[in-house]
Amino acid sequence: MKTENTVWHEQQVNKAQRAALNNQKSCLLWYTGLSGSGKSTIANAVDALLHQQQCRTYLLDGDNVRHGLNGDLGFSDEDRIENIRRVSEVAKLFVDAGVIVSTAFISPFACDRQMAREKLDHGEFIEVFIDTPIAVCEQRDPKGLYKKARSGEIKDFTGIDSGYDVPKAPEIHVHTDEHSVQACAEQIVSYLRNQGFIQ
Ligand code: ADX
Repeated sequence: MKTENTVWHEQQVNKAQRAALNNQKSCLLWYTGLSGSGKSTIANAVDALLHQQQCRTYLLDGDNVRHGLNGDLGFSDEDRIENIRRVSEVAKLFVDAGVIVSTAFISPFACDRQMAREKLDHGEFIEVFIDTPIAVCEQRDPKGLYKKARSGEIKDFTGIDSGYDVPKAPEIHVHTDEHSVQACAEQIVSYLRNQGFIQ
């Protein structure tokens, strides 16, 4: 618990200096979408393209982070809120470190995504809506989870018996059922270039 005895300590080297050394402006690509929508796949493809272009990046992926830092959390609304709170704090540290960080989490609640946005400076939070119809996600069902959710084996599954707030004004809107993974990744990299985050 933070108390009045916990005082912020200013650091000598700042975010802009660290990012400049990396020849980029740091930012957060916040991927959101249903399970099976393609968040991780596209975030990985973007990461690979950026890496090829000598950008300094890091990818925080929901399934992976839930193995470690957030291994104590489940899928109740309360746990999902805490999941996103922790991830947004970690992502903020990466942005401060001068890195282009991507987070691939369902992040179903608009208010939590807004909370993450507000932790960062203006323009640094880039919401990337991986917009894939649930019927397509369910057909892909890469981990067999929709099947389990339909049969009642998994409870609180997003899109089945747990909600998802569709982003109203995402910075980047990606339609994975209409374009290839490569084309979707290039759409995102182009945004970063047009906005001056990378060269
Ligand atoms: S979030 O809602 O808290 O943002 P997160 O992205 O971390 O979710 O984790 C989602 C991943 O956990 C899914 O891709 C899926 O593999 C797995 N999962 C297991 N149970 C559930 C569930 N009940 N709802 C959604 N995803 C689940």
